[in-house]
Parts: sequence; structure tokens; C-alpha cells
Amino acid sequence: METIRKTIESYGYAEVQTPTFEFLKLFEIRSGEKFRDDVFVFQDPTKYLKDEDKVVDYVLRPEYTAPICRMYITSDLCIQPKPVKIYYIGSCYRYETPQPGRYREFTQVGVELIGSPHPEADVELIILAAEVLKALKLKKFIIRINDLNILRGLLSDFDHDYDAQNRIFNAIDGAAGALRKLDLNVPINKTREGVIEEVQTELKELGVAPELSKILESFLELHGDAKEVIPRIQALVKKAPTAVKAIDNSPLKFVVEKLKNYGLIDCEIDLGIARGLDYYTNIVFEIDLPILGNQKQVCGGGRYNRLIQEFGGEDTPATGFAFGFDRLLLAYSKVHERKKPSSPVDALICTYSPDEQDWALQVAGELRKEGFKVEIDLMRRKFKSSLSNANKREIPFAIIIGPTEKEQQELTLKDLESGIQDTMTYDDALNEMKEKLWGID
Ligand code: HAM
Repeated sequence: METIRKTIESYGYAEVQTPTFEFLKLFEIRSGEKFRDDVFVFQDPTKYLKDEDKVVDYVLRPEYTAPICRMYITSDLCIQPKPVKIYYIGSCYRYETPQPGRYREFTQVGVELIGSPHPEADVELIILAAEVLKALKLKKFIIRINDLNILRGLLSDFDHDYDAQNRIFNAIDGAAGALRKLDLNVPINKTREGVIEEVQTELKELGVAPELSKILESFLELHGDAKEVIPRIQALVKKAPTAVKAIDNSPLKFVVEKLKNYGLIDCEIDLGIARGLDYYTNIVFEIDLPILGNQKQVCGGGRYNRLIQEFGGEDTPATGFAFGFDRLLLAYSKVHERKKPSSPVDALICTYSPDEQDWALQVAGELRKEGFKVEIDLMRRKFKSSLSNANKREIPFAIIIGPTEKEQQELTLKDLESGIQDTMTYDDALNEMKEKLWGID
């Protein structure tokens, strides 16, 4: 968690916290009454309610963005210079069918960047999410980006209003999610054809015309490089003027280009990303860690330029993302499990003679303070037999201290797995042990 905090704070974000429960009404402003089907709702204890009291519904926080917007409007955050950059860490609750990586109680780590309407803000935000993953040494991720204005434009050209658009988004989001899993050979008990048939039925039930349904089905398979994807979208929506305009004005190309120039090569445009939450307006994105299989989406976010105003605040553009911390932990342990030593001891200090005992005690003491488990040979074994003792016990490191090391106040660190050894300062040895044993730079 400290690595994540440090990375987020290095971009100028300050930590805030909101209550674990919120007014249900807050979420219903945007999502309507159906929202309560997927969350945990409760009321004031009846014994405290008087006849004239209105029953107030509360909800266990399902996510942070709406509560943060409420906090922004009702605190002095809204008069601070823009952009306001805040982050949070805490439990969220959703009524899910529990399964590995999908829980009813889980932890989110998220950031919100409030006040900038410019795509530079989206770029920096996505870079920050990627840097969090890199700092955790979770390097194999895929960033998928979309601009919901294109989809919204298309749907409004076919006379679907904002709320109808959100219902259609949900259908597309579910189907695209399933297709991307099939792309990565994640078993989901459905075929490609089955997913398409299901979404066709859903779209029909939502009153989507066959012509529009066909375009949306093509969107589901439309992902890849900006140069390839954008002309294909243009061809698909050429008869829909609002969608055409949305593509011309879209910051998608700018954002993807900037991310690639920064070195994030695994990022693609994905027209299937519609996001499950109802407040998104423009650029949205998701990050997948394929190592997680079925619940591979470790991060999701995007712009919600209308929400603050819908809650009664000023017209304020905003964007943000949240990581599923439990999923980060799962991925972290999968990636780093090979590094787990079979021995409970991290390093054994082997000295040439009792003359080096003082320096050995000092090195052991410092390493223990850092959190390593360190032993010094207490059997007065000869140096070679001490090393073979470390090998037999599968201790990952031997720290060798002879007269030269003692004199230079250095040490020789031997990686017993690879056999490589080198004489170095205490600080260098500390870093090497941290990297090998904990995966930290
Ligand atoms: P979300 O995609 O619903 O977005 O959730 C963000 C992340 O939380 C997901 O990518 C996933 O890793 C994790 N997550 C969601 N549900 C569960 C669950 N049941 N069990 C375990 N992990 C889960 C949001 O919540 C938005 N508020 C993000 C955002 C911030 N958008 C703008 N600002």
C-alpha cells in the first residue's frame, strides 16, 4: 500500500476520506431507483423514528466518485485552485455473486482530478494508473480507452435519450467484457456467437433498431491502434451526423498518441468500453491484468463532466479512476509467488573468523530493522561449512564477511539461487535484497 500511496502522492494528490455509508438519494440522482438492486441499503432504527419523520435510506458505499463529488461541493475543496487532486483508500460494498476476485466487500484505491476539461488531464491520469502498476512490478497490463461521446452521438442520432443510452451502454459493456476475455482464452462458459446472440436480444428489448444494432455489434469487435480503428469507426457511422462530429472532436487520438510517446505501448482504443456506471461522459478507460483471468479488470475510470453539476455544484469537469486493491493483491502474489523463499530466513551471515563478529552483528541488526530475517552462524562453523548450511536450508542469500570486507566496512552478497556474488556497500546489498525478495526497487 505504501508503494501505491507514494506513487499517487508524487503526482500531487492528497488523501481524503468519506463516510462508509451515504445517502441512497445521492446515487439515485444519476442512476435512478434500479440502483438499489445492486447495493446494501438500510434505514434509521425504527424506534427512533417519529410519525412525522420521513424514512431516510442509506447505502453502504458502492464506490467513491459520487461521495467525493458530494464532499467537493459541500466543503471548501470547491474554492481551491483547479485542478483539485484527491485520492482515497477504503472499503466498498456491492451486491455481487461472490467469486474469486469479485466480492461483496472490497477495497478501492482511487483518485479524482477535478476542474480540468483538457485531455492532458486524461493523459496524466492514465499514466499515473500505469505507474502504480509498474511500481508494483505488475508490468503486463493492457490499457483500453474509449470516448463515450462517439457512442452517445450515435445513439442520439437514433433518438435514444441519455438514460436509454446508459441502459444500452450496460448491454454493450457486458458483451465487450466477455469478448475480451475470450480474446485472452479466459474460459467463460460462452462462445463468441453466444455472446453476440445474447447482446442482440438485449438490444432488441431496449428498443434498438436493427440498423443501429448492427453498428453496435461491429463496435464490440472494434479495438486496436488509433490509426486502424478511427477510419473504421468513421466508415461505420458516416450516416450519423452527431457521431461523425464526435469523432472529429474526439481527444482519443491525442490521448493514445501521448501515452504511446510516453512509452505505454500496450494501450488501444476499444469501442466496446461503455463502463457499468451511469455518470461517464467522454474519455473512459479500463486496465486489465491478463494474469487475473476472469476478473482481469484491475482499474476503471474516466470523465464525468456533468456529475458535480447534477449534484447541485457548479459546472465542473472531472475525471478519475479506481483500482480494485484486492485484485492488485491477487495479481501481486501471482507474479511474485515464484520469488517466495522456501526458507523462513532471508540471509545467513558467514564470517571468516570471530574477528569479523562486530561488523557482522551491525549488518544483521540493520537488516533486521529493515524487516529482513537474518541469522548469524552461532556454531563457529568454518566459512565453507557455514555456506553449505545456508545452501542446504535454501536460504536465498549468504552474506560473507572476511577481513577485507570488515576493513572496508563492506560485505559480499551471494545470491544462493544463481550463485552470483559481489562485494558491495551495505546500502547496495540492502537494495538488492529488497528487489529480489520483495520485488521493490
Ligand atoms: P469500477 O470499475 O466500478 O469503477 O471499479 C473500479 C475497480 O474496482 C474495478 O476495476 C475492479 O478492479 C474493482 N472492483 C469493482 N467491483 C469489485 C468487486 N465486487 N470485487 C472486487 N473488486 C471490484 C468505479 O468504481 C469508479 N468509481 C471509478 C472512477 C473513479 N471513475 C472515475 N473516478
